[in-house]
Amino acid sequence: MQISSAVFLKSALKPVQYPEADRPEIAFAGRSNVGKSSMINCLLNRRGLVRTSSTPGRTQMLNFFDINERFRFVDLPGYGFARVPMAVKKSWGPMIRAYLESRSTLRGVVFILDIRRIPSEEDLRLLDWLEEYGCPTIMAVTKADKLARSRRDRQIETIASTCGLPVDAFTLFSATTRQGKDEIWERIETALEL
Ligand code: GTP
Ligand code: MG
Repeated sequence: MQISSAVFLKSALKPVQYPEADRPEIAFAGRSNVGKSSMINCLLNRRGLVRTSSTPGRTQMLNFFDINERFRFVDLPGYGFARVPMAVKKSWGPMIRAYLESRSTLRGVVFILDIRRIPSEEDLRLLDWLEEYGCPTIMAVTKADKLARSRRDRQIETIASTCGLPVDAFTLFSATTRQGKDEIWERIETALEL
């Protein structure tokens, strides 16, 4: 994918604040600190377009980006981090469900898991919702650079079986080495029908 423009549009908490639903959209979901914002920056070749942080739980709203004036990316707030205020924690589920339920232009969700972690209850709950709303899902396992090759394969097998999915449903990714970038793009283009 050639990126001619990538522009931050706005942040939103609820549907009335979303930008107009006039372009196909891909959302990025996963627990806090998993690497959602880093993956978006890597895909777009923009180092600082989306703010990344070593402090989990920094992205607490839905952030909309316009790409090539043709489609949108949405950086969804992460979940599963203990040290965010209770009010934020409670609002996360309704906020994500409202988005999945109402967004007519949503074409797919890139669901991101950390290669070093067994998927959590919250990960599995989000997977259930995506299924419930019939949302096409692109499964990605990120931070591949953090493990030696031999351990990677075993971890992906464990992650896949915990999710109840085949191993080949997962794209191995790293924002650091850019491994898997082309494959994620292919899957996004398919979802967008570009
Ligand atoms: P929230 O917005 O808090 O939900 O986090 P996020 O999912 O957007 O994570 P973010 O992209 O901010 O990355 C969190 C931390 O992980 C940062 O310190 C990143 O540099 C690091 N990180 C992200 N992706 C990778 C990767 O592929 N490899 C390595 N080694 N580090 C990564
Ligand atoms: Mg983020």
